[in-house]
Amino acid sequence: MSTESVDRYYPGLEGVIANETAIANVEGKEGAGGLEYRGYSIEDLATGASYEETAFLLLHGDLPTSSQLREFDGRLRSSRTLPLPLVDLYRQIPSSIHPMDVLRTSVSVLSHYDPEVNAPPTDHAANVRKAERMIAQMATAVAYRERISKGLDLVAPREDLDHSANFLNMVNGQVPSETMRRAFDLSLVLYTEHELNASTFSARVTVSTLSDIYSGIVAAIGTLKGPLHGGANEEAWKVLEQVGSPENAESWIQDALARKERIMGFGHRVYKTGDPRARILKEYCTRLAAEVGDDRWERIAEPIEQAVTSQKNLPPNVDWPSARLYHYMNLDIELYTPIFAMARVAGWSAHVIEQLDHNRLMRPRARYIGPPNREIKPIEQR
Ligand code: ACO
Repeated sequence: MSTESVDRYYPGLEGVIANETAIANVEGKEGAGGLEYRGYSIEDLATGASYEETAFLLLHGDLPTSSQLREFDGRLRSSRTLPLPLVDLYRQIPSSIHPMDVLRTSVSVLSHYDPEVNAPPTDHAANVRKAERMIAQMATAVAYRERISKGLDLVAPREDLDHSANFLNMVNGQVPSETMRRAFDLSLVLYTEHELNASTFSARVTVSTLSDIYSGIVAAIGTLKGPLHGGANEEAWKVLEQVGSPENAESWIQDALARKERIMGFGHRVYKTGDPRARILKEYCTRLAAEVGDDRWERIAEPIEQAVTSQKNLPPNVDWPSARLYHYMNLDIELYTPIFAMARVAGWSAHVIEQLDHNRLMRPRARYIGPPNREIKPIEQR
């Protein structure tokens, strides 16, 4: 029996340092707050790196040279097709099932068809290759299931399009404008990594038993789904719809807070003064609203932000602007969280690989608060 104290208890593990990592830093530069991926600020990555470059950075440790990027991108483009049994499965699964649940199943099925399915879970190089295949295939999985559930013909992946343009083309059957492609790509860059958030933690816990990378990603998808985490981008859109008009914002928020409801898309466990990702994406919401010629949702979002800030002092998180961004791209609300997952898979994989490279089983303790020293009575006396 270990002797660690059960007096020190951190509900929700708040403030607990459970890992060392070289992947992301939420302290920002010199502890001033902000987000960095492998030492690069997200503000710099947002203007200076594509999703492909950022995914390479996370998986391989540094930004790619042009030849490394060409090869990496080539590998992604040539890995986009899905095993046929998975496509057939989409035709069997009821269209009412949420795409996030289907994505969780998809990754599990993809693992069965991975060419290196029998590689040891600690094989670093094989795990990187598996991660690259998942990045490519999860995008196709989200798009194919969406088209099948709507009774639409599939749009095959196009090797002449980058990751973002190809995804939007597969879903909408139309190559996006450059502004849309850029905004979508930026959202993937901002969604792809975030230190030891709940889903990344669950992926690391899963593989800390020396389970495999696919199991880690399946666990992460199940964790991301909840509305307190990734599922919040879908819920944030519902807030906008329910508020319905700029004039309604102040009273709607007041009533919701009086009922002790959570305003989805606001607040954050780590960022108490503002999520830097939300600040970057907001500007792109304005640009896309102008491009589609409809600023209604921007006009509703602004007074909601003001009301939540003034009444509860909670700034928006990344899920608040991303909901509007995806709406302007004509994407179904139920795709918002799966898109988060298909971006985050690069960060999850980097963490899984880091965990397996320096593994120690994750096994915390709980403080027991149940009844003590009970004696078993014979069944007829209970
Ligand atoms: N709306 C209303 N009140 C809130 C919100 C919110 N969005 N967020 C926090 N609070 C309040 C709580 O009710 C509580 O108030 P009280 O002290 O008066 O009881 C206080 O702030 C502290 O709340 P906790 O839940 O303890 O804080 P925590 O650090 O766990 O919150 C969380 C983080 C879960 C993200 C929370 O802010 C929340 O529920 N937000 C809404 C869901 C959301 O947007 N999630 C996405 C997060 S970002 C991401 O995962 C990509």
